[in-house]
Amino acid sequence: MKEKEQWSSRFGFILAAAGSAIGLGAIWKFPYVAGMNGGGAFLFVFLFFTLFLGLPLLLAEFVIGRNTQSDAVSAYKMIAPGTKWHFLGYLGMATSFLLLSFYSVIGGWIIYYLFKTLTGSLSGLTPDQYSAVFEGAISNPGISITVHFLFMLLTIIVVANGVQKGIERASRVMMPVLFLLFIVLIIRSLTLPNVIQGLTFLFEPDFSKLTSGAILAALGQSFFTLSIGVSVMVTYSSYVPKEESLPKAALSIVFLNIFVVILAGLAIFPAVFSFGLQPNAGPVLLFQVLPNVFNHMPFGMLFFLAFILLFLFASLTSAFSMLELQVAILAKGDEHLRKKWAWIIGLSIFLLGIPSALSFGPLSDIHIFGKTFFDVADYLVSNVLMPLGAFFISIFVPLKMKKSVLFSELDSGNTIPLFLFNVWFYILRYVAPVAILLVLFDVLGIWDKIL
Ligand code: PFF
Repeated sequence: MKEKEQWSSRFGFILAAAGSAIGLGAIWKFPYVAGMNGGGAFLFVFLFFTLFLGLPLLLAEFVIGRNTQSDAVSAYKMIAPGTKWHFLGYLGMATSFLLLSFYSVIGGWIIYYLFKTLTGSLSGLTPDQYSAVFEGAISNPGISITVHFLFMLLTIIVVANGVQKGIERASRVMMPVLFLLFIVLIIRSLTLPNVIQGLTFLFEPDFSKLTSGAILAALGQSFFTLSIGVSVMVTYSSYVPKEESLPKAALSIVFLNIFVVILAGLAIFPAVFSFGLQPNAGPVLLFQVLPNVFNHMPFGMLFFLAFILLFLFASLTSAFSMLELQVAILAKGDEHLRKKWAWIIGLSIFLLGIPSALSFGPLSDIHIFGKTFFDVADYLVSNVLMPLGAFFISIFVPLKMKKSVLFSELDSGNTIPLFLFNVWFYILRYVAPVAILLVLFDVLGIWDKIL
């Protein structure tokens, strides 16, 4: 039998899992969802959920994956044979399928900006002109479908060739550079006029703005940025050697992720106010703000190009993890089948994404429950499917895995105090499922209002 593929170093796993986590969620989605839900209070609730639910759940997925060393369907089958729990793997497949279909549309927008910066046509415009150029492009069916296709193509090619070779090597260089560029961006943003307004918006919690919809959005956002509830982290941790410390990896990923969310907020909000843009502009927010920030600064377009490249890289590494989940389940370690499935699934995802790509143009008037295709897909994934997946995973681990097995998984690589282990165990067993249900029930109330 072939040896199970593994990450080549402990750093490799953290990089790849952080690569899955850090992506559009922190850089593109967080600023606009926070912008639509009141800013500071949203950030506060998001951080709370990330630390008290996200971290324990991430660790739960790691434990399932490393313990079974299998893909997301077989893993549940191995732990709970003869039950229906492996449907959790299928739920993950469905979620990541739908997720990647609209994620790739936004990835395509990044590719569009890449072309624009390379051809030098993005410098020296006014904020209104930038918005007009961008909106012209995303409402154009030819452009939006082509760039969506290109993003999927890149994803397919890397996943078809095996995640490890590609992701590990590239992440090692790209991640640190991404952080450096963020610093440049923030310095620029913080030296603009009206900075205080942006900082107040981001950091001053006004809890009166916190609706139940905003609380659900914060929960969804926290799972989204950590790639939780889809079993993607089960898949990635199945390639982790036994001597690796899972709690350490989970902590590093959570803190890196929070760090990027704050960096993105610091880079975006002062600029939003400074250029007279609206924080609640929705999915287009980041793309409208960015060129303004780089414009009129020394070597601005060069920095912009570097930022776009890294942003593209960050979103691709997340996209890889979504496709990898599917391919790992379908190919079961067979190299030839890996290629075949990567193409079949990847191209199907591209087709499913077309209505989302057209949601900013010809289909912008087609509404389901008052939302465009794009918004429905995003809402279903972030606010329904991911919390549901996380709910079942939090029940599964304490119910179906022996406490001694769980302890030895968390204890390997680095000892964990029994007290902390118990805190983790009881959060999963009682706190997480109840909290997720409470938030979801609240939404049912909201549905009543909408319908
Ligand atoms: N965490 C990714 C991001 O923030 O961009 C998105 C994501 C990747 C969500 C993989 C879920 C997933 F399974």
